[in-house]
Amino acid sequence: MILKDRIAIVTGAGSGIGQAGAAIMAREGAHVAVLDRSADGAAETVELIRTAGGSAESLVLDVTDDETLEAGIAGLIARHGRIDILHNHAGAQIAGDLEQVEVAGFDRSWNLNVRAHFMAARFVMPTMKLQGSGVILNTSSSSGVLYDREMIAYTTTKHAVIAMTRQMAGDYARLGIRVNALCPGWVDTPFNAPFIGQMGGRAAIEAYVREKVPMGRWASVDEIAESILFLVSDRSSYMTGQILVVDGGEAVV
Ligand SMILES: NC(=O)c1ccc[n+]([C@@H]2O[C@H](COP(=O)([O-])OP(=O)(O)OC[C@H]3O[C@@H](n4cnc5c(N)ncnc54)[C@H](O)[C@@H]3O)[C@@H](O)[C@H]2O)c1
Repeated sequence: MILKDRIAIVTGAGSGIGQAGAAIMAREGAHVAVLDRSADGAAETVELIRTAGGSAESLVLDVTDDETLEAGIAGLIARHGRIDILHNHAGAQIAGDLEQVEVAGFDRSWNLNVRAHFMAARFVMPTMKLQGSGVILNTSSSSGVLYDREMIAYTTTKHAVIAMTRQMAGDYARLGIRVNALCPGWVDTPFNAPFIGQMGGRAAIEAYVREKVPMGRWASVDEIAESILFLVSDRSSYMTGQILVVDGGEAVV
């Protein structure tokens, strides 16, 4: 087990990629705090992990609420005495070009996709500094290295996640803390519902993925989880400030 006895937090771990990432970390021996605003989602992931013989607890809160996020992370650190892994994963896409997107939607995107990553990292950092070790993984997207049509709030925030990742990595490398970003391509989870709506339905998105992704298919959550495991474990021990794009080749073309 390559994460034996490590303490991890995964935000947005109640569904999709976050759930698969939490499960693979637990499989490799980490105790995982399954953070999600959905109590049902968090409970499902904890159950999945425990059924497989792993160790997990749920943290039900909204990552955009600074006070509850700080209290949740502080409680976890108090219970376990350390924090080894923070995977900032919860995020959302809000459709629209410059003129279509609601300003409130742009602000919500910023608060969830960027500011919450910033706050969670800030809350774990004093403990990681004391330890002289820690790993932060920020979920960006292939939209952090490409543009998506009529998706200004999403691409802007996902590009910002990459800038923030590089900056944090440079600032904290000497203290033994690594920070990297993950850029998944198309993964078939509830996350894509707004985009499917925007495109006009399921058949349209299937055709889009077949045409736009050189490998011609969606990623499975388990394929993305393997990259998460690489980035949060010592397998990537000499890697910081990097952006891992896992997108079936979409960003190549
Ligand atoms: N699925 C994809 O195709 C894809 C591609 C690239 C990047 N991503 C990124 O992955 C992340 C989520 O994707 P997913 O496919 O795992 O989504 P998902 O919809 O399956 O899961 C997202 C989870 O985040 C939780 N969540 C949402 N807002 C929250 C908040 N404010 N506080 C706490 N929890 C919250 C939801 O309850 C849900 O359980 C996002 O950052 C997204 O940008 C997804």
